[in-house]
Amino acid sequence: MSATTGLWITFEGGDGSGKTTQARLLQEWVEASGRTVVRTREPGGTEVGDLIRDIVLHHRGDIAPRAEALLYAADRAHHVATHVRPALERGEVVIQDRYLDSSVAYQGAGRVLDAAEIRDLSLWAADGALPDVTVLLDLDPAAARARLDAADKPFDRLEAEKADFHTRVREGFLALAAAEPGRFLVLDAAQPVDALAAAIRSRITPLL
Ligand code: TYD
Repeated sequence: MSATTGLWITFEGGDGSGKTTQARLLQEWVEASGRTVVRTREPGGTEVGDLIRDIVLHHRGDIAPRAEALLYAADRAHHVATHVRPALERGEVVIQDRYLDSSVAYQGAGRVLDAAEIRDLSLWAADGALPDVTVLLDLDPAAARARLDAADKPFDRLEAEKADFHTRVREGFLALAAAEPGRFLVLDAAQPVDALAAAIRSRITPLL
């Protein structure tokens, strides 16, 4: 978001790729440098967003694919307008789990809407807002699944999808990163936590 003085960093990747751990480590490091950090996530991040999150992740039974795409877009519209943009305008650093690339990769993996349509819908919802840096934690879905199994948490609707869905999600993310190499930092999420954190810090340092 070049019109502002803040810095907006999003984390993307499949379920179990380690986004939350890396976002937390980055938050601690940025705060230690003296900047104010807003840590947030999609779906969720606002009260309205948490209500939408409950529908998209925990509703029992099918949600029509176009309805699901619109719910994520509605969450995004409210989140960007009321939480992300104001923080960036205050000059803060926003560190966010998932953004519109997740919609393109996940809702696109359902193969009902095409990637360009989903992206355009999200861009309309967010009034064109794109992050300064998007960190993609790329991981083989089988390795990610082993991590999720070890965590022993109940699966949400998307985590419970079949292996080929998660393979398509991964391919979707990699295609997005290839299309926008300037915005994306793609990392092999099988690396140790410290090595990943260091790679992320070196990408962010010049921007702080
Ligand atoms: P996630 O953010 O990974 O939460 P947790 O760490 O608590 O599991 O889960 C959100 C799920 O929502 C994830 O499976 C991906 C999915 N998702 C979409 O399908 N589309 C989107 O636009 C977003 C933001 C998330």
